Amino acid sequence: MTAKPASVSRNSWIAPSILSADFARLGAEVEAVIDAGADLIHFDVMDNHYVPNLTVGPLVCEALRKHGITAPIDVHLMVRPVDRLVADFAKAGASWISFHPEASDHVDRTIALIREHGCRPGLVLNPATPLAWLDHTLEQIDLVLLMSVNPGFGGQAFIPATLEKIRAVRGRIDASGRDIRLEVDGGIKVDNIGRVAAAGADTFVAGSAIFGSRDYAATVRAMRAEIAAAG
Ligand code: DX5
Ligand code: ZN
Repeated sequence: MTAKPASVSRNSWIAPSILSADFARLGAEVEAVIDAGADLIHFDVMDNHYVPNLTVGPLVCEALRKHGITAPIDVHLMVRPVDRLVADFAKAGASWISFHPEASDHVDRTIALIREHGCRPGLVLNPATPLAWLDHTLEQIDLVLLMSVNPGFGGQAFIPATLEKIRAVRGRIDASGRDIRLEVDGGIKVDNIGRVAAAGADTFVAGSAIFGSRDYAATVRAMRAEIAAAG
């Protein structure tokens, strides 16, 4: 019998992406997914430069905190340059801050900056970004975020080659002995989340699959059932 990836027995986190929420009712939408069982709120920041789309900045993160949201906020920066926004998001109430290494001139410095500001640093790797970026960073980060679509838009199809990458990163994380979350972002649905979990992910971003569903709680429950079945 082959050993199961360590992640299957660990806490799985569901992270709804606000990108697919109704922005006119954002506070209520975030409350609704938390009531539905979400563990953290995935906050997609796009700058129309690093990615061809434009979303929201620290003001909106701060507004969610002022609205009374206490759940961890998982800020996914798809911006270039990165560093200027780190302090702003930390001040606005971010819990985790992840960035794309190719968008930063000094990756080690950006990681340190995020931690100095009291947030947990993560590195995001696009579908064609090699895992070599983890060679000199894994000891410093708390999260690896693997993109299973090209960043910029919600509602895209999951790229199956990501599964192999998830297995490889799971191996590296387990070998490191450090407590590092392995998050996957893009095209995750009830019908493929089990495979993503079985490959070794422990944190699952889902935008359109949750916010596009009629019953958020039923969708989150169905996702958890698939993750449990994968274990
Ligand atoms: C894509 C974003 C994702 C996106 C996921 O650039 O980083 O977080 O919102 O949306 P779905 O789950 O619809 O693919
Ligand atoms: Zn994202």
